[in-house]
Order: sequence, then C-alpha cells, then structure tokens
Amino acid sequence: KRPIRIAVMGAGGVGSKFLERCLEWPELIEVDRILVRDASKRRDHPLAAKFTSDARSFVRNDVDVFVDIGTGVSPSAALLEGFLKAGVSVTSANKQAVAASADKLRAAAKASGAMLTYSASVGGGAPIIEALKRAVAAGHKVKSLAGVLNGTSNFVIDQVEAGKTFDAAMDEARRLGFAEPDSTADLDGTDVGAKLKLLRDIAFPGQSPKHIEVGQITEDSLIIPAGKGLRYVARAYPTPEGLQGSMKLEVLDADHYLVGARGEQNRAIIELDNDETWYVTGKGAGAWPTSESLLADTLQIAREMPLK
Ligand code: NDP
Ligand code: HSE
Repeated sequence: KRPIRIAVMGAGGVGSKFLERCLEWPELIEVDRILVRDASKRRDHPLAAKFTSDARSFVRNDVDVFVDIGTGVSPSAALLEGFLKAGVSVTSANKQAVAASADKLRAAAKASGAMLTYSASVGGGAPIIEALKRAVAAGHKVKSLAGVLNGTSNFVIDQVEAGKTFDAAMDEARRLGFAEPDSTADLDGTDVGAKLKLLRDIAFPGQSPKHIEVGQITEDSLIIPAGKGLRYVARAYPTPEGLQGSMKLEVLDADHYLVGARGEQNRAIIELDNDETWYVTGKGAGAWPTSESLLADTLQIAREMPLK
C-alpha cells in the first residue's frame, strides 16, 4: 500500500512539529505540498521544495487528505470547503475557520462523501470531540457539558496562583507555544467560543443558545479565594427555555474535577441522559498534543477512505 499523500496549510509552531512527525514516517505519509504565507522563509527546511504561497492553485484532488494548520478564517475556510467539494477528506486544527463555516463544510462533505474531521481544534490531545461523538452515536442525549477548553489561560491561572506575574505567565505561555498567534483570543473568549460552538454542534445539533455569557480574563480578575480553585469554564445545557451557555471564570471547590486540570491541560465533564457522567482529560495546548491529534485524524481518514 502506498503512503497517504497530504497537502498541508501552515508550518508555524504546530505545523513544524506535524511536518517533523510526517518525516519520521515516510512509509506512512508523503507530504505533497505545504501552503504558508511566505514560502521564501523555508529554504533550509528538509521539505523546502514543497513550500508554496500560491493559495489559488492549492486545491487539487491529487491528495488523500488536506491538513489545515493555518490561522484565522481566511483562507483556511475556503480551502477546507474547496478540498471537501473536490472529494478530498480534511482535518483541521483551526477552530476559528471550522466554527465559522461549519454548516458549509458539513454540506460539502456530505455532497462529496469526503470526511470532515477536526479533533485537534478542541482539546488538543484531550479527546473531547471523540467522547461526544461516541456518546451521541451510542444514542445518548447530552444533559450538560462543562469544560476547561483553553490551555493558555489555565496555565496562566496556575502560574499566577504560584506567584508569577500575569505578564510573565503570558510570556511563558507564548514561549511554550500554547498561545494563539494573537493571544488576546486566549483571554477574551474568542478561542473558547469557537471551541464551544464546535462541541455544541455535536452535543446539541440544531440548537443555538439565544445568549452566551462571555467573561474576560484580566490580571485583576484572577482572585483565588483560599481553599478554592479558579477556572475559566465553558458550559452548555438544554433547558425548557432553550439551550443555555456561558464562558467565564468560576470559583470552584479545590477538589472539583475541572480544578484538577493543571497548566495547559484541558478537561471536560459530559452528563448523559442515562445518568452516566463522562470525564475527559489531556494536554490541551502545545505543538506536541496538537500534531499528534492531527496525525491520528489523518491516519483514521486513511483507514476509512480508499486512497486516491
Ligand atoms: P502559527 O502562527 O505559528 O503558524 C501559522 C501558519 O499558518 C504559518 O506557517 C503561516 O505562514 C500560515 N499562514 C497563516 N496565514 C496564512 C495565509 N493567509 N496564507 C498562507 N499561510 C498562512 O500558528 P500555530 O502553529 O500556533 O497554530 C496553527 C493553528 O493551530 C491555529 O489555527 C491554532 O488556533 C491551532 N491550534 C493551536 C494549538 C497550539 O497549542 N498552539 C492547539 C490547537 C490548535 P508563515 O509561516 O509564512 O507565516
Ligand atoms: N491557544 C489555545 C489554547 C491552543 O491555549 O488552548 C489550543 O487550542
């Protein structure tokens, strides 16, 4: 069997790690082309000849999988849709692009029969999307969903609690590759909002909350009462009045499962209608867990879809 042929967008913090992992497995994966903003920066890379900045001719159905590790909605969303329409399965770490165009992407995947996957977009290496999909596929209804979905802010809360300044903790999160390219997205609900939307779409299909309370994380907001834990928690749960949701700092008991999410970890609690509660945990941010999640989706696509 020949290797899976892939086209990749993005060779930044996460993309570089992903490409490094692909190079370790030439018998499994062949990188055909890599889209970046500025291809001329990559002359020393072992895959130098594969880099391009030509987004217009990037969508072609000569690959098995498109791996989106770009930033922002454009051009990722259009590329994802273009590949899906061309019958090429995709996986994306770019939650902003997937959340902004989820309906179009699902329609394109349905029409062509290609697979749309985005496990790395939520939870990094914590299999939150997988757990929800499994619950729904087993016929359960989700009663509530609560999670710590941003590794950067969780890391900063823990660092501040340990005595670091807010700015120093943010700098450290950036240096470790946890933060978004514009790290205000990690603090103002932008990152968590996109992730919560993707989870809501799976857990509560067709239902949108009328209003979601969105809290910000600022230096002054990180006040942790003695014996308690502070977490930025995303919630969604149906009520007779419709779906409710919130994303905000919450003071929780110190032994609460979500307080146990340390540093860049992500955690989720999924309550089901059969009174089961599922707990999910894992490394939520960073190049390593994210690229492993992208690899897992790529290999799953290769298992489920015939190679071209
Ligand atoms: P970086 O900013 O480090 O890298 C982004 C890459 O995308 C760069 O290679 C850049 O090209 C390329 N790119 C950006 N805009 C364009 C464009 N308009 N046309 C072509 N290429 C473009 O980001 P990260 O690697 O940290 O993150 C990548 C994605 O993964 C983001 O969507 C992020 O939200 C997501 N993610 C990140 C996690 C993390 O822990 N960091 C975890 C989970 C998801 P160039 O190099 O030329 O600038
Ligand atoms: N910036 C994001 C975070 C990356 O810190 O959670 C993972 O999605």
